Amino acid sequence: MDSVDELAQDARNAGAEVGLAGDTIVIRGGKPLRGEVSAGGAKNLATKAMVAALLGESPSILQDVPAISDVQIVSRMLEAYGVAVTSPEDGVLVLDPANVVRAHFAQIDALAGSSRIPILFCGPLLHRLGEALIPDLGGCRIGDRPIDFHLDALRAMGAIVDKSYEGIRITAPDGLTGANIELPFPSVGATEQVLLSAVRARGVTELKNAAIEPEIMDLIAVLQKMGAIIWTEADRTIFIEGVDTLTGYTHRSLFDRNEAASWACAALVTRGDIFVKGARQQELMTFLNVFRKVGGAFDVREDGIRFWHPGGSLNAVQVETDVHPGFMTDWQQPLVVVLTQAEGTSIVHETVYENRFGFTDALVEMGADIVVHQDGLASVTRRVPRRKLEQAAVITGPTPLHGADVRVPDLRGGFSYLIAALAADATSRVSNLGLISRGYEHFVDKLAALGADFDIED
Ligand code: EPU
Repeated sequence: MDSVDELAQDARNAGAEVGLAGDTIVIRGGKPLRGEVSAGGAKNLATKAMVAALLGESPSILQDVPAISDVQIVSRMLEAYGVAVTSPEDGVLVLDPANVVRAHFAQIDALAGSSRIPILFCGPLLHRLGEALIPDLGGCRIGDRPIDFHLDALRAMGAIVDKSYEGIRITAPDGLTGANIELPFPSVGATEQVLLSAVRARGVTELKNAAIEPEIMDLIAVLQKMGAIIWTEADRTIFIEGVDTLTGYTHRSLFDRNEAASWACAALVTRGDIFVKGARQQELMTFLNVFRKVGGAFDVREDGIRFWHPGGSLNAVQVETDVHPGFMTDWQQPLVVVLTQAEGTSIVHETVYENRFGFTDALVEMGADIVVHQDGLASVTRRVPRRKLEQAAVITGPTPLHGADVRVPDLRGGFSYLIAALAADATSRVSNLGLISRGYEHFVDKLAALGADFDIED
């Protein structure tokens, strides 16, 4: 299969996991989105909290679990390892790790095709079974996405890593021990790797240059409920004192910041008005500042945030993606669509991934004026010094968006196509829709609730 077919297959598989009726959406754009949607639980917390359940001696209960295909994939992987996964009601998972067993490599490999989560099973599996087999990793097509930080951290804790044609086999004959680790970059996944491995290692682990995203803080909260001892210092250092046993947890997932920001941008670019129930100011502060500078209006309420277009024109801005508390790399895609409608020239620097502007090609096809500079731009207004990984997109607006026939390339890029199509003055077809269900729950129902005009086709 070539990569176009593979992507289409991934999209169909992901859509099938959540019962999506078809893999193409035909959107008749130009209507403001208005109404209320609920932000689901955070994909990037829920999936990790599910893995953490493997570490417990008793069942865990996770609430506000989003109805997305990445959650389904992690459920199946846990089941492959003998964890009983049940859902007594929508949005709640009970994860019982009483009978953890070795999984068949082929089974994990088949599941892993579309997810990057398997790497995070290492620590829990080493503690439970003394061995972890990690197949080739998938996830979004947004660059190489290496796992060297993960493997180096595991080695520092005493793991032995063997690479084979099937994937990676990790063992820890003498168990894992606490270590002093400094990450070359505050990687979200590598920080989670260390947390999930060090909580039951012998001794104390000191992790310098850790990521401190709200989803990581929520994972620390989950682990603390299980019996872990973890503290953080202001300079991005996390200390983990290993303990002998952990129990199950009961935890309500943090809301999805990426979903909330995506709906906010949808409101602004369609000149609409959306109340995102469950969105919280604290975790969105950096996004809210940019939203306001662009010219969007918002009102923070007790139970959510209302986002709307207050009339008039939108303003060009300069933004660079960064680790928390910076502007998230997952927010730039919907923002770029908004910036196609702003007056003047905006610049978005991507400093987290090396290749995350591929999605802009289709926006250009729709009428946007976007030029991507693969090696970034020298600019006197940069807040962060130049990093090795850096692309810049220069967006000049406003340009009317027209209908087009486009294929979703990845999760966040895909949602940005939906909102571009909703803002366009004609009909668009967006295929590979299933990829969006990896991270946006019930998005088709939510679009309908907001008054979008569309049909789903196969
Ligand atoms: N990196 C390495 N080596 C490693 C690990 C990371 O070089 O071993 C590099 C990556 O290539 C990248 C940078 O470090 O350039 C940051 O990667 P990070 O590890 O922080 O990202 P991640 O854990 O793979 C998670 C989210 C992403 C989100 C990023 C940044 C999950 C499942 N994924 O990825 O979410 O963009 O953190 O916040 O939590 C998404 O939700 O669409 C998504 C891609």
